[in-house]
This record gives sequence, structure tokens and C-alpha cells, in this order.
Amino acid sequence: MDHSLYDKRHYPVVEVREGYREWARTYEQTVFDEMDLRLLERLRTVDWAAHPRVLDLACGTGRIGAWLRARGAAAIDGIDITPEMLDRARDKGVYRTLALADVSRTGLPAGGYDLCVQSLADEHLADLGPLYREVARLTRPGGLFVMVGYHPHFLMAGVPTHFDRAPGEPITIHSYVHLLSDHVRAAHAAGWALRELDEGLVDEAWLAKKPRWDAYRGLPISFLMLWQREPRTGAGRRGPSPGRVAPGASRSGPSTVS
Ligand SMILES: C[S@@+](CC[C@H](N)C(=O)[O-])C[C@H]1O[C@@H](n2cnc3c(N)ncnc32)[C@H](O)[C@@H]1O
Repeated sequence: MDHSLYDKRHYPVVEVREGYREWARTYEQTVFDEMDLRLLERLRTVDWAAHPRVLDLACGTGRIGAWLRARGAAAIDGIDITPEMLDRARDKGVYRTLALADVSRTGLPAGGYDLCVQSLADEHLADLGPLYREVARLTRPGGLFVMVGYHPHFLMAGVPTHFDRAPGEPITIHSYVHLLSDHVRAAHAAGWALRELDEGLVDEAWLAKKPRWDAYRGLPISFLMLWQREPRTGAGRRGPSPGRVAPGASRSGPSTVS
């Protein structure tokens, strides 16, 4: 669904490249780690250093790459659709390669990654199917996909992805709303099985940084899904077998999926 149905801010809307081209300069001063890094920290079953080949989709300025590198990820590739965001990522010096590409059509070789991550970009995609299929193509059987997103409930509360072009001049970057069930449907159809699901709320940590958001207190603002590519099936399968658990994982408590 296009976000315009829910928009309560009514800022001028620009397309993705135009928006992030302008936001690249100030992006890292305005995005809060509570949005995504806090959820990554809370994942129970991923050993970040155990995956030799990692892809950061929609890597932006490289926040996620820097976080992964600090946790021992060795070879991290990044792709993004906005050259100015990639320039910032390059400055970080944590990526093996960086390329200008769309997350749904990367042009990267099949099966080249053990772990893929995408943070805070799915709201800019009109359709989730091509993303989940492309990441399934890129990930080896049994490999992982960590999807972090801006929560659909927060988007539906009326707040699109936006930034200040200049002080007092807010701009929306064209956004869509995907329900969590939309993610599950698209991922299952591409051969992914859900291993963990988490959600982050607007809580005291948020409000300490953004007191004006008291009106949103208690709302979910971001989510994380840990997907594992079905070991013996590829993209295109209609859904995971409900009884199958990742090698090394158990139903009774956390263990590591690799
Ligand atoms: C909010 S930023 C997130 C950046 C980074 N992942 C982070 O967590 O800080 C969204 C990024 O998604 C990129 N993006 C949006 N749509 C994309 C697409 N279809 N393909 C590749 N990158 C895309 C934008 O250029 C931007 O850099």
C-alpha cells in the first residue's frame, strides 16, 4: 500500500534517490540506533563472526557494515541505489566491495553469501516479492537473511520516512506500507523459514532522545525478522515445512544458526 493513504504529515514527497542524495550529508546525525542496531543486538541465535561472506543490502552510509565488522564479520559487500550514500559507506573502510545496485536486481552471483542483512529500506519497495526472491538467489542453502524494517504500525500512525532538507523544511521519501503478514507471505513463497521475530517500541530510551515523540509512546517502531533459506529447496517454494528447525537450533531455547 502506498503510504499516502496514512500520511498525517503531508510533507512534500520525493523519490528514493533524490531523497537520500540530499539526506546523505546528515543521515547519521538523525537516525537512532534504537531503530535497528538495538534489535540486531537482541538477536539470540546468530554468530556474526561465523559467516565468511556477508552482504549488506541497501547499505546506505555503512552503519550496518561497521556494526557487523565490529562483531567479527570478515568479508562484507554492500549495495545501495544512491551514489551519495555509497560514498559515505566507502569512507568507513569496512566493506570488501561496494556497488550501485537495486536490492531486487543486484546482478551479484547466485549463492555467493552465507548471511544477508537489509536494514530500514523495505518501506521504499513497492513490492516485497522481488526482494525476497533475489536474496534467496544470493544466499547459499541454509544461509540467513536478517531483515530490519520500519514498523508498518508506525507508518500507519501517519509518519513516513522523512528528513529536514533545511531547518524547518521536512521532506518525505516515497514510502509504502507492508504488513508483517506481507513479509511472511513473500518470504515463504521465496523459500525462507522464519527463525526469530522481534519488535522495538517507542520506549524511555527513545523518548530520552526524542521527547516530542511522547504521543507515540508504546507504539512499535521497528521490527526484525531472521530468515533461514530452506536447506534443501530454493526460491519459488510455496512455504516452509512447519516442523523443520535449523541445524543446531532447538525449540526449547536459543542456539546458533549458521
Ligand atoms: C534509511 S536508509 C538505511 C541505510 C542503512 N541500511 C542503515 O540502516 O543505516 C535507506 C537506504 O536504502 C536505499 N534504498 C532504497 N531503495 C533501494 C533499492 N531499491 N535498492 C537499493 N537501495 C535502496 C537508499 O538509497 C538508502 O541508502
